[in-house]
Amino acid sequence: MLALASLLALALTFVSPAAAFIECSVLDYGAVADNTTDLGPALTKAWEQCVIPQVTTTVADNVLLYVPAGNYLLASTVTFNGAANWNLHIAGDIFLPFNPSLTGTMLTFENCQNILLNGPGSIFGNGYRYRPGGDLTLYPSRPRLIRFQDCNDCEITAVTLYDAPQFHVTIIGNNNEAHDMAIIASHIGETDGFDMSGNNNYVHDVSVENGDEVGFFAVSDTIVNVLQCVTVKTPTNGFVAERITCKWTAGCNIGSFGDTNTAVNVQNVVYSDVTISNSDAGIMIKAYPDNIGTVKNITYNNFQMSAAAYPLYISAFWAGNGVDTGKLSISDVTFNTITGTGTPTRPAVLLDCNKATPCENIKFNGVSLTDTKANSFTNACGSGVTGIPAC
Ligand SMILES: *[C@@H]1O[C@H](CO)[C@@H](O)[C@H](O)[C@H]1NC(C)=O
Ligand SMILES: *[C@@H]1O[C@H](CO)[C@@H](O)[C@H](O)[C@H]1NC(C)=O
Repeated sequence: MLALASLLALALTFVSPAAAFIECSVLDYGAVADNTTDLGPALTKAWEQCVIPQVTTTVADNVLLYVPAGNYLLASTVTFNGAANWNLHIAGDIFLPFNPSLTGTMLTFENCQNILLNGPGSIFGNGYRYRPGGDLTLYPSRPRLIRFQDCNDCEITAVTLYDAPQFHVTIIGNNNEAHDMAIIASHIGETDGFDMSGNNNYVHDVSVENGDEVGFFAVSDTIVNVLQCVTVKTPTNGFVAERITCKWTAGCNIGSFGDTNTAVNVQNVVYSDVTISNSDAGIMIKAYPDNIGTVKNITYNNFQMSAAAYPLYISAFWAGNGVDTGKLSISDVTFNTITGTGTPTRPAVLLDCNKATPCENIKFNGVSLTDTKANSFTNACGSGVTGIPAC
């Protein structure tokens, strides 16, 4: 009886959504849940012929582009361009093929407004097939998974993403939210969890895991761009990340910003309640020496680290030619309550900044990291850890 009751409760939680809604099932537009028929054309057709004509309200989950339970092959990229107020509801499991000529992003939402992408289904990227044995040179333009490009007020939740061939979720726009979901990848390089830019975006209650330790710290002492957890890209004004778990990743980063004099503007960022374990980096701000602009007012609260290489690291010279142009200003960065362990051969705090525009007002409150080398400060000032010069 008890088992039946809890089964019923479970079933009820998966009945979706309660309000009157219109369901545009891909099965009515050519999809077959046989894991062989390409889901791409059916998604496009159902969206064009059913979703778009029926969107009449500003409520996203009134009109569903629905992928019912079952196994589907997604063999081609799909772009939903210029639409508002609908819901891609994935109840099934979607599998990517291995196809060396497949490139771009599998699901792109472009110029959009108020889109909800939710589960309870999953997308399996089969990324490991593009880089067998973790070979980081193969297929540099292998597919990415999900992109919101110039989208506002969108939400992604309750969908589980496995092993994208390249980046999992990229969101560019304002007031978007990613929450209550997991990303689980293999160790093949450039498989970031969440890459966020724009204003007032919000990521919370997510976990990102890179699944295996092959390559962890393996490539000399440089940080391999393995899998960034929750990352802020430029331009960003206002970003909050809360309750984040990063396992076998390259940590929570701001940057990198790319080379060739990229104009940088990242301000008013807060990360809180983050757990980082077995990581190639903990918290990083990473720039190229050619970058021009500002990184300012960044706060990190309550990080628990274990075995994090470079737990707290700000670098103006993360990559690029190393010439100190001094055109990127990094200031007002605060670390509050950062505890746990680093790695014995690397500093807990490493600040490597520009000569002409030193990192200014870098504050440490309650930073207690063990198992690390001595801290290192170049062209930086602030307070709260031994050895940092006052500004
Ligand atoms: C679906 O096909 C993919 C290969 O395209 C395979 O990796 C996956 O295991 C299949 N899924 C199921 C549930 O059979
Ligand atoms: C710094 O950022 C926080 C979070 O966005 C914001 O509340 C605060 O007003 C900002 N401070 C300044 C001086 O801009």
